[in-house]
Amino acid sequence: MIGVFDSGIGGLTLLHEIIQQLPNEQFCYYADTENVPYSTKSEEQIKSYVEDAVNYFLQRNVKAIVLACNTATNVCVEDLRNRYTLPIIAIQPAVKVAVDNDKFGRKILVCATPITLRSARFQRLVDLLNANNLVERLALPELVKLAESEVFDEKAKQYIQDSLQQFDIKQFSSVVLGCTHFTYYEPTFREIAPHLSIFDGNEGTARHLKNILSKLNLLSNENFSVEYIESGKPTQNLSRFERYIERIKLLY
Ligand code: DGL
Repeated sequence: MIGVFDSGIGGLTLLHEIIQQLPNEQFCYYADTENVPYSTKSEEQIKSYVEDAVNYFLQRNVKAIVLACNTATNVCVEDLRNRYTLPIIAIQPAVKVAVDNDKFGRKILVCATPITLRSARFQRLVDLLNANNLVERLALPELVKLAESEVFDEKAKQYIQDSLQQFDIKQFSSVVLGCTHFTYYEPTFREIAPHLSIFDGNEGTARHLKNILSKLNLLSNENFSVEYIESGKPTQNLSRFERYIERIKLLY
């Protein structure tokens, strides 16, 4: 079984991509519904929430853990990898894909949670890609709340539009959706700024997971299954998860 973790329903977008690439695996999706959004929490709190999820996964004997939450990656993935021996695969903003995509060196807008954008790990990524003069940062914490409340209409569009106003968006080649909750709004970004290429880390992270499992001889060829856990307990609201999954299918 593979454990997939997010603060809420954002990571379902990565789970969907993983299932496309690994259709014969058993998954346990853990949404920390009691504590979402993480953007408003301290790093110490986030570390302890993620620790609870990891302990849950260990009890379930998972063979790998996927952090489907950019915020959790940036706060604690190194620490987790130092302490646990099982593979921990973690999503991060797809800045490299965006840099590689633009031959003309135009600007890249990275949208994520404030915690991701101010983290040392994110800064290291930008430094490594030599992209300090290309990358602009835009925190969209309200979008996490809107996604959790299933608000995908004009209200969300208006929030994104208002937030983008501070940039001369014509100068940009791409937008990186650096929070898994934001992938639900890909069509909205496309509508607002059709000239932008839009990237998220889902495809790359799923591919990385597949490569690691294959290298370790851990791929399964049994029947696909997925169970949904909310903050340590089986969900009482499966239909909510199913609504998000239906929405994700429309994105691809
Ligand atoms: N989905 C998470 C991410 O990718 C974070 C959302 C939150 O603030 O809880 O960053």
